[in-house]
Amino acid sequence: MSNEKVRVFDTTLRDGEQSPGVTVTPDQKVQIAIKLDELGVDAIEAGFPIVSAGEMRAIKEIANKGLKAEVCGLARATVADIDAAIKCDLKYVHTFIATSDIHMQYKLKMTPDQVLQRAVRAVEHAKKHGLAVEFSAEDATRSDRAFLLKVFRAVTEAGADRIDIPDTVGYRTPDYMAQIVTEVREATKLPVSVHCHNDFGLAVANAIAGVNAGAACAHVTINGLGERAGNASLEEFVMALGILYNKRHNINTQMIYETSRFVSNTMGIIVQPNKAIIGENAFGHESGIHTHGVINNPLTYEPIAPELVGRKRWLMAGKHAGAHGIRAMLGEFGINPTEDQLHLIVEKQKEIADRGKSISTSELLSIAGEVMHNPQFEEKFKLYDFQIFTGMHTIPTAVIRLSAEGKELIASETGVGPVDAALKAIQKIAGDVASVKIREYRLGSISGGSDAQAEVSVKVEDRNGNVVSAKKANQDIVVASVEAMMDAINKVLLKRVLDSKG
Ligand code: KIV
Ligand code: ZN
Repeated sequence: MSNEKVRVFDTTLRDGEQSPGVTVTPDQKVQIAIKLDELGVDAIEAGFPIVSAGEMRAIKEIANKGLKAEVCGLARATVADIDAAIKCDLKYVHTFIATSDIHMQYKLKMTPDQVLQRAVRAVEHAKKHGLAVEFSAEDATRSDRAFLLKVFRAVTEAGADRIDIPDTVGYRTPDYMAQIVTEVREATKLPVSVHCHNDFGLAVANAIAGVNAGAACAHVTINGLGERAGNASLEEFVMALGILYNKRHNINTQMIYETSRFVSNTMGIIVQPNKAIIGENAFGHESGIHTHGVINNPLTYEPIAPELVGRKRWLMAGKHAGAHGIRAMLGEFGINPTEDQLHLIVEKQKEIADRGKSISTSELLSIAGEVMHNPQFEEKFKLYDFQIFTGMHTIPTAVIRLSAEGKELIASETGVGPVDAALKAIQKIAGDVASVKIREYRLGSISGGSDAQAEVSVKVEDRNGNVVSAKKANQDIVVASVEAMMDAINKVLLKRVLDSKG
């Protein structure tokens, strides 16, 4: 098998942007393209030029940014679409037309001969204008094989530089993808790409099977974004390729998490917590058995070192946490209880967990402080209560009551919404002592319906540059937000105390 690097063609800005609910401004598209380039993708599909003036502006700017990646745009197999790509200063076009019976009959309303001619004309037109051309037969994997190969041969003769095989509705299996790639390579002798959708959850497996059968390239997206269930996710594809198949690529894997977060925040699509590589839980350990194993040797339960994808492992004091995990969590703060103290801490923590609550780090530290009779570990700020006033004609206002070292503190603030008002009020009280800025606020719904659990993560930074995150879940978004903020502030204060002890 060849040792050539696998080409990574990123289509986050095109297929990814076609995800239901996603829209990005031209400026945001440019920012994402820069991030993708830093990540090391070989090609960036910047968009679909014909769709709007804003899209054209963004693609043109990306094309002229001097990126290392090749920049291309999508065009139907029509002169107008290809001309729109040329107007964006693109030197590389990805042109497509459907070849399956169902698409030709019900969508294009064209005969196979007409489709063939249209494909050839489009490729000729693009080549006449000096473009590099990647040709896709949309719904290739449900197309009549003889007709598909006929189209691929014809566009090859017309000058296409690359052939792409889209599994448009994610209908095929790895075996099928391997076989079709082999046939298309033999028929065209051109570099072949695979473009796999995830309708059956097989997109990454299919893309890998295609590459193992000799495809030079896979079309992928950050966070697996894309039409319906999405496309093959870049992060899963690249990590499986490198670690499980020992294949080379140009991706700087340490930038994977940062890029994933950036795309999720910019495109507004939350990543599911248990998503491989990039999900919140992908490097988190809760059960005692797992934390014990990971502390002794991370390879026991981590097939990928978190640092390799720009992440950190985290341990959580949930119901299944054991003494080893709790000791490790406390150890991160330089706290070393005796065996007896540890036993008591674990007992108290389990009592809380049995009530269905996962305890936060600052709560755990507070328990440790109590058991070890060391008030320094105790939470500096404790939440008494809060009230929110909001409505269509009421400026959202929050009143927060906290206690610090036995004193009751109260503050009120207004904001753009109840969460904003509440977090501002907390910051106002914590003011001089904590003086934190919110670096990130994320809201995710854990279950569906209007009574869904809301999961809030906040990341705060204090004036010394200490950054901590905290996460809380509650059916009330404001409660989850307030509790997460309180935990983050207490953690950052504790970190300062412990750092100052050296
Ligand atoms: O899934 C698909 O078929 C596509 C084509 C435009 C290549 O995205
Ligand atoms: Zn697609």
